[in-house]
Amino acid sequence: MTSRFGSKQKKLGVGTYGTVKLYKNNAGEKFAIKTAKNITDQLDTYNIIPDDIVVEIATLGRLKHPNVINLIDFFINYDGNQVSYNLVLPAGDYDLGMLIESGKTYDTWSIAHQIALGLNYMLNENVLSGDIKPHNIIVFENGGNHLIKLADFGISQIGFCCQKPHTKTAYTLWYRAPEILLGDQYDEKADAWAFGCILSELYYKRVLLRGK
Ligand SMILES: Nc1ncnc2c1ncn2[C@@H]1O[C@H](COP(=O)(O)OP(=O)(O)OP(=O)(O)O)[C@@H](O)[C@H]1O
Ligand SMILES: [Mg+2]
Repeated sequence: MTSRFGSKQKKLGVGTYGTVKLYKNNAGEKFAIKTAKNITDQLDTYNIIPDDIVVEIATLGRLKHPNVINLIDFFINYDGNQVSYNLVLPAGDYDLGMLIESGKTYDTWSIAHQIALGLNYMLNENVLSGDIKPHNIIVFENGGNHLIKLADFGISQIGFCCQKPHTKTAYTLWYRAPEILLGDQYDEKADAWAFGCILSELYYKRVLLRGK
């Protein structure tokens, strides 16, 4: 099934919903395959694809911008009772959280500018990420520069007015806007709040609001 994408090289990252692994094919092309983990308990008799996967595919299908990750392919693997959902993405070198923590030098304003371009594009496409944070921003080494792509759209919203009830747990706590903490409705301005937190973190190399 994955032959076009070659063989597994290493694990790139683990999130709440997926494990992301690096694949490389004979032509030397690299891919990041995000696999939804242990989802058999979510399957009903009709094999319904989990919400977050559908939302992520729908969002990725809509977005085409150099600073937003693109979907190369999607496939489902059946192995006995186990079913896995696989998103094939361009493989970055690491995420922005890793870059900040690494102590390596980077150009704060170039990275901030690229995040802003990606967010501005999403705003024009009526897409709210709902989970902007450094670990959801993928970094591609590009000569001496860092190319940035926004990623992880499992809880995104197309159209800013909630299609499903918003929850207090949108965004990771450190990047969560006050209106969400207060249980109010939120919109695209919550992505801007998270961007502000990241801007400070890029500059000072520490989390701005490390809440518990
Ligand atoms: N295209 C990619 N290239 C390189 N690394 C990636 C890529 N996509 C994801 N990763 C790594 O894998 C991690 C998990 O991926 P992702 O955030 O998409 O999963 P998730 O389960 O939806 O995460 P969360 O816990 O934020 O909901 C990222 O934080 C990042 O370190
Ligand atoms: Mg993530």
